[in-house]
Amino acid sequence: MSTRNILIYPDPRLANVAKAVTFPLSHDVRALIQDMTETMYDAPGVGLAAPQVGVSLRIAITDTIWRNEENKKTDTRDLWVWINPQIVWKSDTTAPFEEGCLSVPETYEEVTRPIAVRIRWYDEQGKQHEAEFDGFMATALQHEFDHLNGRLFVDYLSPLKRRMIAKRMQKHFIE
Ligand code: NI
Repeated sequence: MSTRNILIYPDPRLANVAKAVTFPLSHDVRALIQDMTETMYDAPGVGLAAPQVGVSLRIAITDTIWRNEENKKTDTRDLWVWINPQIVWKSDTTAPFEEGCLSVPETYEEVTRPIAVRIRWYDEQGKQHEAEFDGFMATALQHEFDHLNGRLFVDYLSPLKRRMIAKRMQKHFIE
């Protein structure tokens, strides 16, 4: 296992639509998921999508509870691996939530999204699952699955705000 480099906005690779994963998973894809896990915990982050490490595949991972309110690591782990996920239902009710992204360091902005979603996805064994999520998990999943369609949370902001963020990234985070 090793960590991989996280692409920083506005890297054009973050805007690509990722390809579906085929089963059984190849050795390379299994290694990718392991590396993504190490990269997310190392960052530290609560979610990571394969396009963020430069791999155009429909895979995301989340762990929304391993950091507490003070943003400190805890011993609790709740790792989820989402392969070829689909949002099959969204609640009509929406709410704003402050989001951040490992590809947009030190930037937090409010994004309004549905407060509950129903997800269909595959696990690493190729088994299909379907379940409903709400709260922070619903926000995290919509954010991560957006990455698979080349969309970042900054795409919900005004063009002016997005340009300012892109400039800040180029100045401080991109060599
Ligand atoms: Ni993100």
